[in-house]
Amino acid sequence: MDTRAIGVFDSGVGGLSAVRALRALLPGEDILFLADTANVPYGTRSREDICALSAAGARILYGRGVKALLAACGTISANGLGAIAGAVPIPFCGVIEPAAAEAARVSRNRRVGVLSTEATARTGAIPRAIRAHGADIEVFAHGAGALVPLAEAGRTDYADPEVRAAVDASLAPFAGTGIDTLVLGCTHFPLLAPIIGDMLGEGVTLIDSGAATAGYIRELLRQTGLE
Ligand code: DGL
Repeated sequence: MDTRAIGVFDSGVGGLSAVRALRALLPGEDILFLADTANVPYGTRSREDICALSAAGARILYGRGVKALLAACGTISANGLGAIAGAVPIPFCGVIEPAAAEAARVSRNRRVGVLSTEATARTGAIPRAIRAHGADIEVFAHGAGALVPLAEAGRTDYADPEVRAAVDASLAPFAGTGIDTLVLGCTHFPLLAPIIGDMLGEGVTLIDSGAATAGYIRELLRQTGLE
């Protein structure tokens, strides 16, 4: 038994969706959550900046004695995992692979949308990961970083016209694509899931990338004897 905490890292409140899922799945584990609110948003930054912030956050959590690390952030997962590998000698994982696997599992019509920050979208990492799980899947990916500051500020109310307009603009590129699954590739976006779900309608399944990752962390701890 290893009683050290699991470190969870995001630029802000988005990572709490992963924390919630981890607590439900692994109630016996302690969690240390780092929200880098001094530097949020990450999704509008250069890859170099994101790598530097990823390594710095990982070092902070490692310095506090965590045994494993979850980058509960699509932007870090798409850009900064290499930097984390070079910064700390503990097992870690990001949210892209679990979310991609889940999307490939649930999509019936093999048309999947991905909504992420711009910094994630430009890497193409999520579409690549989805296609690795289903070569027959057509992926439609768009950056929607404008939603991050709203979610971070707790502005998730359907009645807020600015929120509705921002969500509307973010979903517009998916019109006519026929997607039956949308990956929320930024962990801030599940905070807006009720509005996003409402606007897309019942036929579209939303994938919460942070929540999808909890099972992977459990497996990682088992494989490395760190439970
Ligand atoms: N929660 C993050 C993500 O999943 C970062 C959002 C941001 O800081 O721009 O991408």
